[in-house]
Amino acid sequence: MIVTRVPTTPIAGMKPGTSGLRKKVAEFARPHYVENFVQSVFDAVRPPAGFAGLALVVGGDGRFHNREAIQTVIRMAAANGFARVIVGAGGILSTPAASCVIRAHQAFGGLILSASHNPGGPDGDFGIKFNAANGGPAPERITDAIYARTLAITEYLTLDTPDLDLDTPGTRSLGTLAVEVVDPVADYLALMQRLFDFDALRALFASGFRLRFDAMHAVTGPYAHAIFERELGAPAGTVISGTPLPDFGGHHPDPNLVHAKALYDEMMGADAPDLGAASDGDGDRNLIIGRGIFVSPSDSLAMLAANARCAPAYAQGLAGVARSMPTSAAVDRVAQTLGIPCYETPTGWKFFGNLLDAGRITLCGEESAGTGSDHVREKDGVWAVLLWLSILAARRQSVREIAAEHWATYGRHYYTRHDYEAVETEAAQGLMEHLLERLPRMPGESIAGRRIVLADDFEYSDPVDASVSRHQGLRIGFADGSRIVYRLSGTGTSGATLRVYIEQFEPDPARHGLDPQAALAPLITLARDIAGIPAWTGREAPDVIT
Ligand code: G6P
Ligand code: ZN
Repeated sequence: MIVTRVPTTPIAGMKPGTSGLRKKVAEFARPHYVENFVQSVFDAVRPPAGFAGLALVVGGDGRFHNREAIQTVIRMAAANGFARVIVGAGGILSTPAASCVIRAHQAFGGLILSASHNPGGPDGDFGIKFNAANGGPAPERITDAIYARTLAITEYLTLDTPDLDLDTPGTRSLGTLAVEVVDPVADYLALMQRLFDFDALRALFASGFRLRFDAMHAVTGPYAHAIFERELGAPAGTVISGTPLPDFGGHHPDPNLVHAKALYDEMMGADAPDLGAASDGDGDRNLIIGRGIFVSPSDSLAMLAANARCAPAYAQGLAGVARSMPTSAAVDRVAQTLGIPCYETPTGWKFFGNLLDAGRITLCGEESAGTGSDHVREKDGVWAVLLWLSILAARRQSVREIAAEHWATYGRHYYTRHDYEAVETEAAQGLMEHLLERLPRMPGESIAGRRIVLADDFEYSDPVDASVSRHQGLRIGFADGSRIVYRLSGTGTSGATLRVYIEQFEPDPARHGLDPQAALAPLITLARDIAGIPAWTGREAPDVIT
């Protein structure tokens, strides 16, 4: 095996964001771009004894540039001395499946090629993320080291070899590297069979229960066809848009009420199925809609926590739960009733990793349509649907009935997120800085009849390793329990995205049936006014409301 050492120079802007390095395809297609980043990852994580004897998992969501990037990664893994690469056939691995494969094969870690829910295709986005041996996204300590390395890199190691066949399962060699092409679904399916009672779910479908799962032409198609239709016996056609396409069929693979509108409309229609669900580009997000009712991700997390015992994996109860700071406090109330701890982390799944590894939490989730558990170290869209199905099978009630009972028991957290996308970066930063500067004076003030009791820049001290993460979002809390949070997204690729999270607690069951936008209208106006959103951004209304 002849290793080629290619001289290179640092490329600016390779700082990993909320979830790995994410850029336009055109950026990734630049000479040395993928190579510089991948070598920087290898340099930052290389153990003292090198990669000899170690396995790397590689796979992606099938988007444009996936295959090219995977060939590059495999050559570089060989040149850098890995013993094995485990790659999903066709270059496919959903993000949760990649996490599962890393853990199942005791790999050193993995490289996941995805830009999650961002659009794909030649003009779309691409991304690379390193996950560690626990199957989870690298913590900040590692992503910081990777970034530092991108700024100092002088060469990368590769081979001058033709492309490998990555479509036919089996093992082939590349120099001293064994490349194992595996069925992307197999390990994941085996894990789901251990967590859930597949017989009970088969009986649910046999009784006529109807699911509609929209894979959005993204990576969950093969998983959903295999699990819902082939294993559980749901009729053909249950899974729609089930073939992964490099450009996701020209759609935006983000399972929200805007981009999964057709599913939403079907679920609000006269002949709606019992459960509607969708997942995103790389299969870690989920959207849950019952017949005639959308379940917000924050509520879904709370309802899953309250009912988790319906699935064998969680029958013994939960050790604890966690949510990201901007996620509503609905799950906090469940945790209180269950008498288990509830942790509040910054946005980003990586912050759940230590809590999961330490056994402090079993379930966790985010307002951004992510829910997961200790079964892997990523959020997991198909898993969330299986847990919902388990609850529906056990309780024999509709989603609407379960939600109504939940709110009657715990109260309802009305919640919405307003996104202002592709705002000029300086304007967005100006808005945040101006607000930050005013925060210390706010507690005690009253605005529009609401007294502010908390105003801070969220900072997280990890209870496991004591690391501190600062500047994680501006929080304004009111005496009546309502809350506004402002944050700049860490996953966008053009300009800045301002996210405004608005939440209000409603204990009265007579007021649980309102449209969240109507219930929150005064607070929405207040959020706009406090930050002066139109003046800073030139926008009168948000681009996306979820
Ligand atoms: C990704 C991460 C999540 C995060 C979400 C939104 O999906 O895995 O943990 O909540 O992005 O992040 P953003 O920084 O765009 O709000
Ligand atoms: Zn995703």
